[in-house]
Amino acid sequence: MSQTPVIRIGLCGFGTVGQGVWKHFTRSRTELENRLGVRLELHRVAVRKLRKARSVRIPAARLTVDALAVATDPSIQIVCELIGGTGLARELTLAALRLGKSVVSANKALICAHGAEIFATAHRHGGHFLFEASVAGGIPIIKALREGLVANRFPHIYGILNGTCNYILTQMEEQDAPYKSVLAEAKRMGYAEADEALDVQGWDTAHKASVLAWLAHGVWVKPAQMVVEGIDRITPADFKNAAVLGYGIKLLAVIARDFSSDELSVRVHPTLLPVGNVIANVSGVFNAISVTGDVVGTTLYIGRGAGQDATASAVISDIVDAAALLRGGKSAYQPAAETLPARNGCRLAPPEHIKCRYYLRLTVRDQPGVLARVASVMARHHISIASVIQNPAEVADAASLVLTTHQSHERAMRSTLRDLARLASVLERPVLLRIGDFND
Ligand SMILES: NC(=O)c1ccc[n+]([C@@H]2O[C@H](COP(=O)([O-])OP(=O)(O)OC[C@H]3O[C@@H](n4cnc5c(N)ncnc54)[C@H](OP(=O)(O)O)[C@@H]3O)[C@@H](O)[C@H]2O)c1
Repeated sequence: MSQTPVIRIGLCGFGTVGQGVWKHFTRSRTELENRLGVRLELHRVAVRKLRKARSVRIPAARLTVDALAVATDPSIQIVCELIGGTGLARELTLAALRLGKSVVSANKALICAHGAEIFATAHRHGGHFLFEASVAGGIPIIKALREGLVANRFPHIYGILNGTCNYILTQMEEQDAPYKSVLAEAKRMGYAEADEALDVQGWDTAHKASVLAWLAHGVWVKPAQMVVEGIDRITPADFKNAAVLGYGIKLLAVIARDFSSDELSVRVHPTLLPVGNVIANVSGVFNAISVTGDVVGTTLYIGRGAGQDATASAVISDIVDAAALLRGGKSAYQPAAETLPARNGCRLAPPEHIKCRYYLRLTVRDQPGVLARVASVMARHHISIASVIQNPAEVADAASLVLTTHQSHERAMRSTLRDLARLASVLERPVLLRIGDFND
């Protein structure tokens, strides 16, 4: 074994993911080394607090508080950025890449905000940036898009990319429970962060959608350029209405490209999916992604989208790929992400080109003529009503009107919402959900 080359790995961050990587890497190390023909050494680990109690114990001599020193240590070839955020994480990622190292990251927020700079730096200095764990945790969706489906163009990709939201929606539906009490329970069980905004308002899903859109279409789309809507205004009544109409409700990322006009839309919103759709039946903290390629047809990926073990599985896969790249063994068939062909030329679809069917719930005064006034606003914006359900509302002297529309476009629907909210007979801000017609 003395002749066997050694590849040293530095872990920046030893929290949920970092400890999972250490635990599972240590267990499978011999097998991985045999496959690669190298020795792999988890050499140094950076944390914020040296004395913190941790469930995974490591020799104290391996620990440091200087993450940048780990990233730039000349004896380390693979740096894992498992700190999170976009400050120190960006700094140490770029520092390591400038030295030609490979960086493995689980950090979707960093990639979404600084991906272009990171990939350009990796390319310029001959290193690699690997990010399998950044989207859908343990599901190898990055590898699927980048390698397995490389022959395809992708008219649409959609799926559940945030386990916290899927857990909350599943509980609301199954327990007939309101959002706030389910969220509080999710926090108690550790499924939701103390500050839940990033998850429930759709931003975490938008970061991941941005990464997938770039991989599939070679274009960076920032969350500010997307329609991003969260789950916090959905009520148990919406699940009942959806069920009557034959649907379930999921928070989806939708990445759609029309190859005839070459327009791309990237959106995150709660979506009514037909009850027979496989993704409509994925519950709890699981993630699920449907990828339609023009050559392969539709492929589906379901699994744990977060958590220590699933995320460690993806990080270790990237460590092994990085080691293989260093050995020269895999570079022939694993294209560096930064050399993705510019399959673009595609532009973002304007709102008047984004079309779908809508579900609209209005809390209105329970009096004659209200439905006619609502219908007249919708007609003015050329929104055609497909169905109407009227239920008693939770507010006294009010009714809940649920309307579905035929295909309409986003700009007309936004104007309709604005005008409906101005009607004296509409008592609360309307709730708008999209209906997913994905034909698979
Ligand atoms: N958790 C998941 O299920 C999951 C899933 C997919 C992707 N991710 C991504 O993985 C990354 C890590 O997530 P996590 O859940 O493992 O986070 P975490 O549990 O909060 O761990 C963060 C680690 O970074 C260390 N750290 C923070 N600031 C530091 C500094 N200035 N210098 C050195 N070390 C510092 C912390 O040190 P101390 O331990 O001393 O505080 C901790 O060990 C994030 O980008 C996250 O989005 C997480």
